[in-house]
Amino acid sequence: MIDSGLRDRAGRHVTLRPVDDDNWRAVADVAPRDDQRAHVPALAARYLVLTMRSDVWTSLAVYADETVVGHVMWGVDDDGSRWIGGMVIDATEQDRGIGRAAVRTLADWLAAQDGGHPVRLSYHPDNAPAAALYRSIGFTPTGTVEDDEVVAELRRG
Ligand SMILES: CC(C)(COP(=O)(O)OP(=O)(O)OC[C@H]1O[C@@H](n2cnc3c(N)ncnc32)[C@H](O)[C@@H]1OP(=O)(O)O)[C@@H](O)C(=O)NCCC(=O)NCCS
Repeated sequence: MIDSGLRDRAGRHVTLRPVDDDNWRAVADVAPRDDQRAHVPALAARYLVLTMRSDVWTSLAVYADETVVGHVMWGVDDDGSRWIGGMVIDATEQDRGIGRAAVRTLADWLAAQDGGHPVRLSYHPDNAPAAALYRSIGFTPTGTVEDDEVVAELRRG
């Protein structure tokens, strides 16, 4: 379990846990709002298939207390940089502070890994909520665009 002790606005404890035999169905069923499907797949199931087929990415379940509320994944690039991807909070659980807690928890955990590798993520420039969230956590655009997405790196003073 990855736990920075953060809570959502309802006071629920937000943690990141491995996808396992008990929770994988709930993680697969995580769905964004319909109007967000331009930026993310219709179900987190797509990310689970990707991470099962990939040596790079690892999926995590986002929990609020004991309820699965989202999906996020992390990976290591050839240059050692750590990446965050696949961030989706279920439509029924958005705007409660869970996304912020989940990204901060994963970013802190990746930044603390040996080697001091940069922590990066990318987002579509039209995805204003995601851009605002990442910027407020300390992710700053690097100037690189990959697959039409803005690459941003965690920079904390
Ligand atoms: C982006 C996402 C993960 C945020 O999760 P969330 O739990 O709803 O976010 P939070 O409640 O923690 O809000 C965090 C910040 O996100 C931004 N945000 C969230 N919803 C927003 C909205 N509807 N409009 C504008 N900004 C918004 C705000 O900056 C907010 O900060 P605030 O709490 O100071 O207002 C969620 O909206 C989501 O799953 N979207 C669909 C998938 C997606 O776009 N993923 C990112 C791909 S790069």
